Amino acid sequence: MTILKDLIQKRFNKIEKKNYFGYPLLDDAFSAEDISSAMEVLLSKKITMGEITNEFEYEFANYIGSKYALMVNSGSSANLLAAFALVNPLKKNHLKIGDEFLIQSLCWSTSLWPMVQAGLRPKFIDVNARTLNIDPEEFFRSITKKTKAAMIVHVLGNCSDIDLITKIGKKKNLYLIEDTCESLGSMFKNKYLGTFGSFGTFSFYYSHQITSGEGGMIVCDNKKDYQIIHSMRAHGWDRGLNKRKNNRKDFNFINAGFNLRPLDITAAIGLSQFKRLNNFKKTRNENRKKILQSLQNSKNWNNQFSFIEKNKNLKPSWFGLPILINKKYLHKKEKFLNFLNEQKVETRPIISGNFLDQPSIKLFNLNKKNKIMRNSKEISDRGFFIGLHTKPIYQNQINKLIKLLLSIDEI
Ligand SMILES: Cc1ncc(COP(=O)(O)O)c(C=O)c1O
Repeated sequence: MTILKDLIQKRFNKIEKKNYFGYPLLDDAFSAEDISSAMEVLLSKKITMGEITNEFEYEFANYIGSKYALMVNSGSSANLLAAFALVNPLKKNHLKIGDEFLIQSLCWSTSLWPMVQAGLRPKFIDVNARTLNIDPEEFFRSITKKTKAAMIVHVLGNCSDIDLITKIGKKKNLYLIEDTCESLGSMFKNKYLGTFGSFGTFSFYYSHQITSGEGGMIVCDNKKDYQIIHSMRAHGWDRGLNKRKNNRKDFNFINAGFNLRPLDITAAIGLSQFKRLNNFKKTRNENRKKILQSLQNSKNWNNQFSFIEKNKNLKPSWFGLPILINKKYLHKKEKFLNFLNEQKVETRPIISGNFLDQPSIKLFNLNKKNKIMRNSKEISDRGFFIGLHTKPIYQNQINKLIKLLLSIDEI
């Protein structure tokens, strides 16, 4: 292991020397240990889901404070399992085809589609433009007798009062799924996001709080729910759930299913990175503070941008740094983002903007009444985000980044 790790480290050092300025979404977050642990799995020739996946699940559940964690091949797959668990006949009081669920219009594609694919009917609600998340009051107002579930998306490491939303959900008998794909490690009132609802889902895709390339996790506290998602992850099989002496019964399919299994290779990378999550979190928070301070203290600062508010009870684990362009400069947005891109500052929309404006919504006719979501639209129109890196940012990098951001005045 050490020889392999040293070799990889030497190779990394060679690559790093060639670096030039650029501000990508994620800097080089992989350590030699991440890569060597994956290579060890390859060398063992047991690359399919196995002991390392189990270990990662165990460590993840322990850290996050949920009874069960199940690794899958993506955050989207985690949402797929959560959605199909809600309508599964093995679940007591499961939902029925056509039941209504609430979802914010500022969401990701696969926050929405798994629920629709499971036969549930979306009712879109708007977010708060200052926090990017659903306000509890709006959540409460939107619940009717038809509402049976809610998909809450914690946007870019931030959240609203999830404690109150959970209380409202419980009172109204709703199943709550927390799409925490962008917020691994954020805590609300000292409880990790993803552990408030019936299911919490996480993504380990590139530039997320940790990354294994592809990968995801789903957590829950209910044993029956765990058995359902466990069987559905792999073909509806009960393998790994029951210890049986009779081998003939080894091919026992107790449920409908998918194949959403991760590889032990990705589990090894995920587990190795997971050990550094607290460090990543701290560094990202510090980098965010430094960038914001330098930007707002610059002599050229003229309120060109606004930034989002964090709830006072949140200890955030930031994904990126969302930025809203102020109205005076809005006509330059496209030119400005192209300019940043040319200067090697990578940007992304905030999630995918107002999802109601996406062609797929038209394709499936999910906005029959042509509802307008003012705040989500405003976030789409004004917003973008840049990355927050897992290594401390140097002052000369900050200066260069800030100069580029503030050149919105001149372009
Ligand atoms: C809110 C949200 N949900 C779900 C996903 C899907 O995760 P994955 O890319 O791992 O499938 C993403 C991806 O970025 C996301 O931002």
